[in-house]
Amino acid sequence: MSLQTKISMFLLQSLDGIIAKKQGDSLDWGSFEDKEHFRSKTKQMGIMIMGSNLYKVMPEHAFDKRLTYVLTSNPNVLRKQKNVEFFSGKPAELVELLSRKGFHEAALVGGGLIYGSFLKEKLVDEIWVTIAPKIFVEGVFGYGKEKLDTDLELLEISKLGKGEILARYRVRK
Ligand SMILES: NC(=O)c1ccc[n+]([C@@H]2O[C@H](COP(=O)([O-])OP(=O)(O)OC[C@H]3O[C@@H](n4cnc5c(N)ncnc54)[C@H](OP(=O)(O)O)[C@@H]3O)[C@@H](O)[C@H]2O)c1
Repeated sequence: MSLQTKISMFLLQSLDGIIAKKQGDSLDWGSFEDKEHFRSKTKQMGIMIMGSNLYKVMPEHAFDKRLTYVLTSNPNVLRKQKNVEFFSGKPAELVELLSRKGFHEAALVGGGLIYGSFLKEKLVDEIWVTIAPKIFVEGVFGYGKEKLDTDLELLEISKLGKGEILARYRVRK
C-alpha cells in the first residue's frame, strides 16, 4: 500500500483572511522574502495543486520546475501549458492519484475555493501562512465558502520583510 501524499497549503493573507484585493490581484503587497519562501518550498516539493481561477492569472514562468495539477470542471477552455495537467475529479481523488504516483508531498497553492474544499475534506496536513500587516475587508476570501471547524497546532513562527508573520501549522485531524 502506498503512503498518502502529504498536502501542505501555502498562502499570503491579510490579517482578515483576504488573499487578493480583487480577482487576479498582483499580490504586490507581499514581501520579496515571502515570494522566495513560496518559490523555494514549491520547487523543493515539485508538485503544485491549484484551482482554475488562480491558474488563469498565473504567469507562465510560475510553472518552471514544478508539475502542476489544476482542478477544473472545464479543462477545454483553459490554455494548455508545459508541466500542467488538468484534473476534473474530487480533491480526494487527486490526492489518491498523487499517492499512487509515489509523490511524498504536494503544495496546495490556492486560491480560496480550493483551500476551502481541501480543508473541508480534511486533506490538508500543514499550513504555511504568511500574515501581512494589512486589513482589506473586501476581496477574495482565503478559506472558501463552506463552514469549517479546523483545529491547528502551531509548529513554527518567524518574521519576514514588510512586517509579515510566517507561521507553520499542523492540521489536527
Ligand atoms: N494570496 C495568496 O496566497 C493567493 C494564493 C492563491 C490564489 N490567490 C488569489 O485567489 C484568486 C483565486 O481564488 P478563487 O477562490 O477565486 O478560485 P480558485 O480556488 O483558484 O479556483 C476555483 C475554481 O476551481 C474549480 N474547481 C474544480 N474543482 C473544485 C473544487 N473541488 N473546489 C473548488 N473549486 C474547484 C472551479 O472552476 P471550474 O470548475 O469552472 O474550472 C472553481 O470555480 C486569484 O485572484 C488569486 O490571485 C491568492
